Amino acid sequence: MNLLAIETSCDETSAAVVAETGDAAKPWRLKSNVVASQADIHREWGGVVPELASRQHLRDICGVVERALTDASTTFEDLGAIAVTQGPGLVGSLLVGVSFAKSLAWSYGIPLVPVHHLAGHIESLVLQHGELPLPATVLVVSGGHTSLYLVREPGHYQLIGRTRDDAAGEAYDKVAKLLGLGYPGGPAIDRIAKEGNDRAYAFPVTRMTHADRNHPESTAPAGLLPAGVARNVDFSFSGLKTAVMRVVKETRGQRPEAREPGTNRPPISDLRPQEIADICASFQRVVVDSLLDRTFETARWLGAQSVGIAGGVSANSRLRADAQARGAQLGLPVFIPPISLSTDNAAMIGAAGLRRLRTGVTAGWDLKAQASLPL
Ligand code: KG4
Ligand code: ZN
Repeated sequence: MNLLAIETSCDETSAAVVAETGDAAKPWRLKSNVVASQADIHREWGGVVPELASRQHLRDICGVVERALTDASTTFEDLGAIAVTQGPGLVGSLLVGVSFAKSLAWSYGIPLVPVHHLAGHIESLVLQHGELPLPATVLVVSGGHTSLYLVREPGHYQLIGRTRDDAAGEAYDKVAKLLGLGYPGGPAIDRIAKEGNDRAYAFPVTRMTHADRNHPESTAPAGLLPAGVARNVDFSFSGLKTAVMRVVKETRGQRPEAREPGTNRPPISDLRPQEIADICASFQRVVVDSLLDRTFETARWLGAQSVGIAGGVSANSRLRADAQARGAQLGLPVFIPPISLSTDNAAMIGAAGLRRLRTGVTAGWDLKAQASLPL
């Protein structure tokens, strides 16, 4: 059975065809995956402009879907179901995919399957590597989310940690903007960090172990982890962003002679290329360590048989290398999707869609796009 999947939650219009294999260990086969990125449009504005994003999805969706069918050597008549990202995401963007998928499923008389975007990121691991050794701890790191899940059985995701403020990808994008590196910031910082000294700046690693009487409730369900560990599974990146901002200001402040035209601000170009590379490398070390410390510590406490890392930030070269090194040291297999399945794509929505369809989940014609949606 061929399933067509559609993903339009942010600034990528994507369609994919995914089929069942009949093999329980590696249940899905990817037949095509087409992604039209809007990065060139949003770069000019320094970030995603929601109104521009939804308008561009409208322009691209027909061509992207047709191309996905052609690449898979299939036709609309050959489809057995349609899966679509219902949320979370930008509501105007989601609406394009949801309306398109609904109309198509209705006109061909086939089931429509609603998919949570983060379930898609998690299932990208199974699409690529087959079913993971369970239980698994899976870290989803993207532009909008930084969340840790315990997967005890296929298709069931238990939230055990999440960010209290910025997502890791958001921190990458904000720091890149501060350094004048453009949008999206993750790939730029990843590239430039390779030229820098990752110990040049001692940025803080946020740990939430303080026994403050105002400390927030831990995200992990009570009793799953020891209290001290449970509280520290949550992430925080806004303090790190502020620390980078302070270093940038101080470094520029040492050269007060140059000013941006018409302002009292020192220009970005005031930072020397080596200083920018050192800031990128030091920032990246702290982000990667804080993600991996929590993921592996939690995996150990929970007796996980594998670790998965998915979402846009899992494209990061240091995160990938360090995660594999830690896994090898602990004898714990680590699974990460290829870069084409790390950042937003419809293939992962197809994998999650087939999983849900198997358990009988389909949507009615009143399916609504949801900007926020719990997993
Ligand atoms: O999953 P994704 O494509 O979209 C969301 O669901 O948010 O993630 C996008 C995020 C952006 O913040 C982007 O800067 C980040 O992933 N990203 C990276 C890298 N490639 C993309 N962050 C660090 N290193 C990379 N190589
Ligand atoms: Zn995503």
